[in-house]
This record gives sequence, C-alpha cells and structure tokens, in this order.
Amino acid sequence: MAEPDRRSAAVPNDLEAFWVPFTPNRAFKRAPRLIVRAKDMHYYTPEGRAVLDGTAGLWCTNAGHNRAPIVDAIKRQAEELDYAPAFQFAHPKSFELASRIAALAPADLDRVFFCNSGSEAVDTALKIALAYHNVRGQASRTRLIGRERGYHGVGFGGISVGGIVSNRKHFGTLLAGVDHLPATYNREHQAFTKGEPEWGAHLADDLERLVALHDASTIAAVIVEPMAGSTGVLPPPKGYLERLRAMCDRHGILLIFDEVITGFGRLGYAFAAERYGVTPDMITFAKGITSGAVPMGGVIAREGIYDAFMHGPEHVAELFHGYTYSAHPLACAAGLATLDLYRDEKLFERAKALESRFADAAMALKSVPGVLDIRTVGLTAGIDLASRPDAFGKRAYEAMERGFHDEGIMIRITGETLALTPPLIVSEAQIGEIFDKVARVIKAVM
Ligand SMILES: Cc1ncc(COP(=O)(O)O)c(C=O)c1O
Repeated sequence: MAEPDRRSAAVPNDLEAFWVPFTPNRAFKRAPRLIVRAKDMHYYTPEGRAVLDGTAGLWCTNAGHNRAPIVDAIKRQAEELDYAPAFQFAHPKSFELASRIAALAPADLDRVFFCNSGSEAVDTALKIALAYHNVRGQASRTRLIGRERGYHGVGFGGISVGGIVSNRKHFGTLLAGVDHLPATYNREHQAFTKGEPEWGAHLADDLERLVALHDASTIAAVIVEPMAGSTGVLPPPKGYLERLRAMCDRHGILLIFDEVITGFGRLGYAFAAERYGVTPDMITFAKGITSGAVPMGGVIAREGIYDAFMHGPEHVAELFHGYTYSAHPLACAAGLATLDLYRDEKLFERAKALESRFADAAMALKSVPGVLDIRTVGLTAGIDLASRPDAFGKRAYEAMERGFHDEGIMIRITGETLALTPPLIVSEAQIGEIFDKVARVIKAVM
C-alpha cells in the first residue's frame, strides 16, 4: 500500500463555520470523519490511516482517485484557459466532450447540454421537456411524473419529482402539477435478488392510471432512475422500463432516465439505457463524467428534441437556460481524460465482468444476524439492516461510523441501508475485503 503523504495532513482548528450538507452536524463535529488525501482505491485520514473506498466517494469516482491522466489534464487546462463565457462564446473542448458523450449514448441521443451537478441536470431536463412541448404547440403538457423513493437531487424540480419524504417535507408546496408512480421495491416478493427482480413490472402500469386521471394532453414527462440508487439500491423489475417506454410512446410523454449514478459504468455499461435496451428521450448525467474530479453534469437529448427548438430568428437563443459554468474548461478537460481512462482501461467492461463476483460476495452476508435484505446490480449492493427499536437509521449510522473509524472502510448509508458502490478499478481481493469489513461492522452494531 502506498505510504501516506503527511504533508497534506492539515486539520482545521475550528469546525463551526462549515454547515456540512446532508450530515448530522452536531454529531459530526464531535467526532469528525476527515479525509485529506486519496489515491486509487483509498482515502487517507489526517493521521495517515488508509480507508478503503467502498462508495466511489458519492458514487462518482468511477475511475478511482487522483488518477494521473485526469490530474494532469486539469493542471494543463488551468494553465491554458481558466474560463470562457458559457453564453454566446465557447471553447473547443466543450464540443469535443459533447461528441464523445453522444457517441457513448444510445440511438439518437446526440445533443448534450452541460451544467454542473446532478441536481442542475434534472432541473435542466425537466425544463427542456416543458419547453419542448411548448415550442411544438402542446403547451398544455405541463405535468411531471416522478416516482416514490426516487432521488433527483435537491433543486425544486428534483425534490418535486423525487419521492424521498425527508427531502420534501420541509420545503413548502414544491412544483405544482407533479404526480408519482409507486416505488418498485417489495421485500416480500424480491428479497435477496441478484440483479433485476422478477416481480414488479406491473407497477409501471400505474402510469395508465395517472393518464386516465389527468389526460395525456396535460403530461409532459416521466422521470425515473433506471436503478434507484440513493434510496437504497433498487434495480428495476424485469420488463418495468420497457413498459414505461411503451406507455410514454403511446401517450406522447417524454421519458427521462436520471443516470446521474448509473451513467459511466456503474451497471457495466456506459448507460443503464444500454443495459436494459430501453431508449429514453433524455438522459441526465453527472458524477462519473469527470470521475468526481471537477463538478459537471448534463443532459443528453434525442436529436428530435433539439431540432424542435431550432426555429425562430437566428439572433435569438432557442432555449433560455444555462449556467455560468456550463461546460467549464476544467470540467471538460477532466471529462475527456476520464472518458479516455474508461476506454483504455475498459472499466465499464470490467464492472460487467466483476458483477457476479461482487453479487456473490455481497450475498454471503445473507446469514449475518440483522440483515433483512441484500440487493445487487452492476458494482452496486444495498444491504438493509434491522432497525434499533429506538430509532430508524441509527444502526446504519453507527455502521458507517464504525466502518470509518474502526475498520477503515467508507460505507454510504441511506435510512437503514448500507450501500457499497466502489470505484470500477476495484480488484477481486478488494471486493472480498469490502464485504469482510462490512460483515464485521454489521456484527459489531447488532
Ligand atoms: C439519480 C440522481 N440524480 C440527481 C442527483 C443529484 O446530483 P448532485 O448531488 O450532483 O446535485 C443524484 C445524486 O446522488 C442522483 O443519485
């Protein structure tokens, strides 16, 4: 294992000012989990302790940490061009990266709109859907359909179509005219399934109920994660996405796949759309595009969607939307280097080849007391734990803490679920190490 670099071991002298996102701040500041350095599959604490990255950061460092080609590309870009205005001007790498992404995306998903995060990508896709119907003379199509337990980031659009109660309940009335499909998970029918469960395709049919209720002429788009990640790793039931596609086609509704997590190899393919053989009208992406090294997100739209906007006076923008940092030069440079790494090291293929080994290692924890369900797909596993009688989520929280402090593993938690989603460079030995550590952590918190 590489020797930690102690020069970077600076620790803060005051933890008060920083309001840590999606984190219990008081508990964190009592016992902070600080990271000062990373390389390949490991993080390092200020004391130089190695922590195995079981989560690819936040599902984003798919190529592993601090990979030299990405670091070098960012350095070179910073020296050459720090920033170019994102509106009315552009720099060459934005076009190059868009072409590379379009080449990876299925079918005629060929037009790429850049932003800086998954949340922005979702808001962008929802806005494009509304505007698309509008420019085609179907302005009555304003309703957006999401799904219970869906996570689409934290913008008002994303939390409106999202279905995670805690992310919604404090934030007012959200967007008007949003409805939700039911979640696809049912433990009784699906427990301990490797890959896509047999049961549940019929849950897509709820869309017909919503069409009957609202009329198709009022519905703009359906947005789902092909595999719901943040809510605890819920692979789609077999046939579910195909049914959604068929119904959307029947009713002229756009289908958006939120691939912020599933994009760039997580499920063994460039996009989950390819794994499932279902082509949506738009794909949102972020995270893996730069392997987490520079913030970037975006939307890939079918050619016909882009073309629908290409009318009107030629001196007027066709879509009144964009961000100061859309296609930022540093992000584009990082994105190009990352895509090169994915290609040269065949990392998507690697994820696919490791899938069954990963699933077997995860499922070996089935007999650990307190494990209620395990789900796997691609290089992703969700492990549900029995709750402590006093507090939902506390056991998983303790598992995450113990994992970091005692076992040297980073675990992601959501509710009472542990999520394991390592970088795609993970070795077979490290897969074993991940689940050995996780098993010890679970036993310790039972
Ligand atoms: C499916 C999905 N959409 C959107 C987002 C939001 O991305 P960001 O945190 O970059 O805004 C996430 C983040 O995990 C996600 O999983």
